[in-house]
Amino acid sequence: MKIGFFDSGFGGLSVLHEALQLMPDQQYLFFADQAHVPYGEKTKEEIIRYTDDSISFLIKQGCEAIVVACNTATSAAVEILRRKYDIPIVSMEPAVKKALEEHEGKCLVMATPYTLQGDKLHNLLQRIDGMELATLLPMPMLVRFAENRQFTGEEVTEYIRKQISVYDFSEYGSVVLGCTHFNYFKDTLRNLLPPHVAIVDGNEGTVRQLKRRLPEQKEEEHPSVTYYISGDKVTDATMLKTFEQLLIRLDDMREIR
Ligand code: DGL
Repeated sequence: MKIGFFDSGFGGLSVLHEALQLMPDQQYLFFADQAHVPYGEKTKEEIIRYTDDSISFLIKQGCEAIVVACNTATSAAVEILRRKYDIPIVSMEPAVKKALEEHEGKCLVMATPYTLQGDKLHNLLQRIDGMELATLLPMPMLVRFAENRQFTGEEVTEYIRKQISVYDFSEYGSVVLGCTHFNYFKDTLRNLLPPHVAIVDGNEGTVRQLKRRLPEQKEEEHPSVTYYISGDKVTDATMLKTFEQLLIRLDDMREIR
C-alpha cells in the first residue's frame, strides 16, 4: 500500500522518520510543497488550496492513505479534505494533551502563527481544560531556518534564546513542538531549556494513529520512499542526498526529550 506524507517543506520528514521506525516495510511518498512554504504565515484559503492540490496529487500517484504531517495544514484544511476524499487522512495537532498528562505545570506551545490563532487549537485547549495551562509562542523563523537547513549555530541559538527569555520556567513542565519543522532544533532547545522542562512532539501519536487507521498492513516486498517537491519527483542525486542527511539528523533528534 502506498502511503502519502505531506508537508509544506522538510518538517513533515520528522513524521515520516517516525513511520520508518515503527512501520518500515511500506511504500511511502513524501511531498514537500516548497513552492509555497511557509504555510504558517498564509491565509486559510491559500493553505486549503495548497493542501488540497498536494493531497490530490498524492492520490493520483496511487496513495491509499494520507498523513498531513503539518500542524498548520491540519488546522486550516483537514476537516474540509476529510469530507472531500474517501480515504484515511491522518493529521497532526500540537501534543498539548500528552504534555499536560505526562508533565506537571504549564506547557509552552511553540507553533506557527496560523496554528496558534486557529480555532482548532483553541477548541482543543477548551476540551482538555488547558486554557490556563498552555502559553502560546509563535516561532516562524524556525520554519525558515529549517528550510535553509540551518539547524544549529549562533543565529538559531540566539533566536530561540530571545523568544523563550521572557518565561519563568519554574512554572513550566513542558514545551510542545506544535510544528513539525521544530523537531530539527531539539538539541539547541535542550541546551537552552532547564532540565526539568520536557520537550514533547506529536510524531509518535500520529504514526500510531496511522497504524490503527490502515485496513491491513502487509509488509511490502519492495519498501521504498519516493520524494516529490511540489509535484516534481526528486531524482537529482544531490537532493536525494539532502533528504538522506535530514533523516540522519532526525535520528539524532528522536531521543531528545
Ligand atoms: N511544518 C508545518 C507545521 O507543522 C508548517 C511550517 C510552515 O510552512 O509554516 O505547522
